[in-house]
Order: sequence, then structure tokens, then C-alpha cells
Amino acid sequence: MSDANFLTLENLTLAYGDTVAVKDLNLTIGKGELVAFLGPSGCGKTTTMRAIAGLLSPASGHVKLDGADITRVSANKRNVGLMFQSYALFPHLSVYENVAFGLRLKKTPAAELDKRVKAGITSVGLTDYADRKPGELSGGQQQRVALARSMVMEPKVLLLDEPLSNLDARLRLDMRSELQRVQKETGVTMIFVTHDQGEALSLADRIVVMKRGAIEQIGSPEDIYNRPTSAFVADFVGFENIFELSDGRLKTPKGPVELSGPVPIAAGLAWRPRMVTLGSGPFQGTVRGASFAGNSREYLLDTPLGPIKAEVDAALPSHELGAELAFDLPVGAAAQLRTFG
Ligand SMILES: Nc1ncnc2c1ncn2[C@@H]1O[C@H](COP(=O)(O)OP(=O)(O)OP(=O)(O)O)[C@@H](O)[C@H]1O
Ligand SMILES: [Mg+2]
Repeated sequence: MSDANFLTLENLTLAYGDTVAVKDLNLTIGKGELVAFLGPSGCGKTTTMRAIAGLLSPASGHVKLDGADITRVSANKRNVGLMFQSYALFPHLSVYENVAFGLRLKKTPAAELDKRVKAGITSVGLTDYADRKPGELSGGQQQRVALARSMVMEPKVLLLDEPLSNLDARLRLDMRSELQRVQKETGVTMIFVTHDQGEALSLADRIVVMKRGAIEQIGSPEDIYNRPTSAFVADFVGFENIFELSDGRLKTPKGPVELSGPVPIAAGLAWRPRMVTLGSGPFQGTVRGASFAGNSREYLLDTPLGPIKAEVDAALPSHELGAELAFDLPVGAAAQLRTFG
């Protein structure tokens, strides 16, 4: 084992009875990495986490951690921490006792327990709150207690299943940076699940996009955001104009369409709304929808290529519904898709 393959999932197939939830999944995670699982509801994110934690026995395949095959090791002997969205603190215990709980169960000697609990509470910025009860804390502070409680166990891997999803937008942002800071300071290997692509993009070293129980794409946040390799990922990260290519031409509902400029060899091309050139170009569209979005304006165009979404600077003159506009889909700006569908 090297640090690069600290946690390995090998040909992992996971099922609930006859229902296969994850099929033949392969993934290698490095020591100290912060990896996000991203994907639509039901794609197998929680199921994969449960298998890593030892709460679900694989139908086939292996889980390896720190050089050992832990596929058949029970959950409480894996040294894998798991924090669910509903983090359930003990309401009658102080912050200190909540954080100390797991260490007491493990009969950690008093001096060491005290040292680790205090360090844990400090690491999440709650030094002054150690004696409070959960009911006397804000939602974000409670979440930090839950994080400290997982961290003090010094897990080899910490799994967070939508840890921020029940916080309001502001707290979420605070907790995001908190998570990232604690992870970088302690160097713990972390996998978190989120529905929120912004969260995945801003936090993760690497993102694993899942679709129907399989990995669709793995990459850095920049890769996933700028270079989706499939129509599915492109759609998921906000490319709203996605076309299949056939013989170098776009497949559209009204037949093949020639693009201006050389077209790369790819299964498809995709443009974000703001990549569409509006006001000039070889194509014509009619404005069917217009909406103001603060810094920008979004237009929905009816075109011979089908509906096109364009986004332009709100400072530019606006266009009325029904207006005829020229536009272009610049080939150079497009994401090149290797697989379609
Ligand atoms: N206990 C269970 N029994 C049977 N099927 C289950 C069970 N738990 C999950 N599944 C199924 O397995 C698939 C994967 O579920 P999973 O919970 O891993 O999805 P998820 O990616 O975490 O989704 P979400 O984003 O909604 O949390 C789904 O089709 C789901 O219906
Ligand atoms: Mg889930």
C-alpha cells in the first residue's frame, strides 16, 4: 500500500436483496484526500458509504483500507467514522461529554481522553462552549460538535453523508470552510456526500459523479465543471445546451446542423448558457422566455436546433419576447463529450 491507494474499492457490487444498488464499482482514494460523491437521488452514494463503514456487506468485491482487506471486518473494528445528516447529539450531555462519548466507550485513559476531547473541541472553534448543552447551541455549532465527536475517534477515514444539508445557506458556507480547515489541519481522509454541486466543487480535492450505481466520471472540481466527459455529467453541472454529434454535425430534432469552424472528434458537444454568443452568428432564434438573474439575463430561444438557453450580462440592452436574434454556438468553447446518453 502507498499513500495513493489508502482506501480501495475493488469491483464492489452492493445489493439489497435482489435489488442491485451499486454495480462493479472501482475507486482508489489517497491518504488525506477530500473526496465528494455527487449524483442524483438513488444513484448509490449512501449505499457505497455504508459498505465502506461496514454497515452493508458487499455481494461481491473488496474494501481495502491502509493495506488491509477489511471487507469482512465488522463496523466497530474498522476505524471508519460516519456522520449522518441527522447527527443526533445527546441533549442531556454537555458539548464536552458528547465529544467524549465514543472515547469513554472505548475505555480511553482519563488523561488521554481529556487531551483529545479538548483538542477536538478547539479544532472546531467551540472552546468557550464546552459546558453547554446542545439545546443552547446554534444549528451550525451543533453540527461542529458532531464533527468533533467523529474526529476525536481519530478514524482512518471519515464519511460524511450530507452533513450540511439541514443548515441554512449562510451557516452552510461557514461550515463548508470549517470542514475544509479541520480536514487540512488533521489530514484525515474524508469522503462526503452532497446533492449540492457548488458544495462539491468548493470543498473537494476530487469529485466522483455517480449515476445508477456506477461511477460516471472522476476528476478535480475543474475537470468536472469545465470538462464533463458525458452528456449526463454535462447536464448535471449546468451545461444546458447539449447535442449529440454525427459525422461532424449536430444532431437536432430538425435534422443535422453544420457548425462554423472545425469540429473535434467527439460523441457530443455541450455549451453553458453563457457560452452562447448572442446577437451575432450563423443561427437565428426567437426569444420565447427572458428572465433577470441579477448580474445576468437568461433567454430561452426557439431555434431550428431546438430550444437554446443563452445567458448574457444584464448591463447589455435587453431583448423583448418575440424578438429575432442571431446567435452562435462557438465550437472552441464547447465541452467535448466522449459518451452520450
Ligand atoms: N434498505 C434498502 N432496501 C432496498 N433498497 C434500498 C435500500 N436503501 C437504498 N435502496 C435502494 O438502493 C439505491 C441506492 O440508494 P442510496 O441510498 O445509496 O442512494 P443515494 O445516492 O444515497 O440517494 P440520496 O441522494 O437520495 O440519498 C436506490 O435505488 C434505493 O432505492
Ligand atoms: Mg443518500
